[in-house]
Amino acid sequence: MNQSVNFETKPLIPALQAAKILAWISHKSICKSTAIANLTHALVFQGMRVLIVDTDGVPTIQMFFEQHKEETENRIAKNKAKVNALQAKGRAVSQTLLDQIEYDEFAIENRPVVIARSLHELDAQFDVIKREYANFDYIIVDVPAKVLDSKNNPIKEIKRLISFSNLVITPYKGDNQNAVTAVTVSSIIEDLKYDAVSLGGKFNTKVRSLLAFEPARIKANAKEVSANLTLTDTSTTAARLARNAERKALKEIDRNSQMMADIKQFGEVFGEHQMPLNAPLVFRSVYPNQFNKGQSIYNATTDSAKLAQTEFNLVVDAILSAFDEEPEAVEASENQTITITN
Ligand SMILES: Nc1ncnc2c1ncn2[C@@H]1O[C@H](COP(=O)(O)OP(=O)(O)O)[C@@H](O)[C@H]1O
Ligand SMILES: [Mg+2]
Repeated sequence: MNQSVNFETKPLIPALQAAKILAWISHKSICKSTAIANLTHALVFQGMRVLIVDTDGVPTIQMFFEQHKEETENRIAKNKAKVNALQAKGRAVSQTLLDQIEYDEFAIENRPVVIARSLHELDAQFDVIKREYANFDYIIVDVPAKVLDSKNNPIKEIKRLISFSNLVITPYKGDNQNAVTAVTVSSIIEDLKYDAVSLGGKFNTKVRSLLAFEPARIKANAKEVSANLTLTDTSTTAARLARNAERKALKEIDRNSQMMADIKQFGEVFGEHQMPLNAPLVFRSVYPNQFNKGQSIYNATTDSAKLAQTEFNLVVDAILSAFDEEPEAVEASENQTITITN
């Protein structure tokens, strides 16, 4: 997933298994396109074939990957020219440079396929697309922000998309506004479960919420941080710097535990229909910049990018393992005579 990874080539004969379908649904602009671009890069560097279906009127994802391809090709050309120049002078070529070229060429060769479809078109062509890309590992669907009609009911294509998906991610930003959305989404899922069971079928889609946080907006608990400080010496500049570094690290730990507590609380309220992934989506300033340049967080090597990668890798792992989890059991409630299934 990072540049030290071994690139495993895919077997020539794909496993007899259809692509796994992952849809991202939220009716507010949160982080879907950005997270999808980064997730896709993580998957690509694990050797996965990925199809992205961009159903947004504004094809951000498609533009991102086109831009990314161009950026990557330019970088390959530039780095190859550097290698040639060094070799012409009889000078050593650094392994980092060679690795970068290999990494970029791998990225180009395995780059995801992005197609743009309206939700309506996707709905009509879903079987065709699934067949056409059956040897892909993942089909990721980016959904536009507007998923409810004027009466606040989910448009029918959304309901069908949820039913057809193996996994649905519902991203929320950790603020009050999201509770409203979360209630709506939970009721959609509840309806779908009810419909599936009353038709004698099963609801096999797993729905997982993804809580997004901006650490810059989370105030660390000062008392807690001071209580945990081990460095007390302030007599020299070096000692003060070390103490500040410890304080900063403790603040980060405190914010992290606040995020995890919020995830847990969300799970207590909405876990029945959209159990949260056990990893926060952390907002870092490195994201927008990289995205605009056509680069995902995995292309950058700065310390802040590495932090963002480490954090996002946990999200990736949580998403991938969610595919293997059992779907939630559909409970029969008191006024339903439906039997329990999962
Ligand atoms: N993890 C993140 N850290 C920082 N900024 C982010 C992150 N994810 C998204 N953003 C920014 O938030 C805005 C909305 O993100 P976007 O992915 O376009 O949302 P959506 O697809 O849900 O509408 C963009 O400006 C994007 O750069
Ligand atoms: Mg978007």
